[in-house]
Amino acid sequence: MRTISVASRKGGQGKSFLTRAIAVLALMEGKSVGIIDTDPQGTVALWSKRRPHDSPTVIALGSGTIDGHMATFRKARADLVAIDTPPNVAPIINVAVTKSDSALIVSGVYGEDLEQVAVLATMMTKLKKPSAIILNRVPQGASALREAKNALSTFRLPICPVAIVQRVSHPYASVDGLTASEREPGSKAADELAKMYAWLGKEGLI
Ligand SMILES: Nc1ncnc2c1ncn2[C@@H]1O[C@H](COP(=O)(O)OP(=O)(O)OP(=O)(O)O)[C@@H](O)[C@H]1O
Ligand SMILES: [Mg+2]
Repeated sequence: MRTISVASRKGGQGKSFLTRAIAVLALMEGKSVGIIDTDPQGTVALWSKRRPHDSPTVIALGSGTIDGHMATFRKARADLVAIDTPPNVAPIINVAVTKSDSALIVSGVYGEDLEQVAVLATMMTKLKKPSAIILNRVPQGASALREAKNALSTFRLPICPVAIVQRVSHPYASVDGLTASEREPGSKAADELAKMYAWLGKEGLI
């Protein structure tokens, strides 16, 4: 069983969105997939309640532990477990990353997004955790993307070459308990997610 934590210190960068996206693409590949939602907001747990399918199984942290929920998924022979984490630097993020095989740091492209990456990049380096940074909510046609990639290169972590553009397909899919890969197959939104997923696999992060 592989486990990946998705994290960002700043809120609203797309942790829950990418956790769902990775889990669904793994499902579509025929894998058995679980999600642990460690955020008290329960964004992914609520999405799973809207979802017209039983999988992936989403477990909210609740009063349990990451170890305990991982053991449940291991027993159920899950191939992949994705862990959604809360914003800020809550201790649970450290626990999730420590217990995971890998981690994905999510950031927007603007200065106030990028300056929050440092804390987590340092955490990954200290924990020697295989990890990467992905840029999300990228505005179409802006030079901000190139500048963001330059700024992030100081962290010496791999940066996903596929940046995820801000597209309404993503929140619309979430309302239906789906992802763009399911709701709009063949769309640019779905294509970006598929390329991201392939890259994560190539890097050995999932
Ligand atoms: N690439 C994107 N295009 C359009 N909307 C997006 C994109 N990424 C995320 N969103 C939307 O932005 C909002 C915030 O995303 P999400 O909930 O995944 O962020 P988060 O980092 O988990 O937030 P929090 O810190 O509150 O947990 C959601 O409504 C989500 O659908
Ligand atoms: Mg979230």
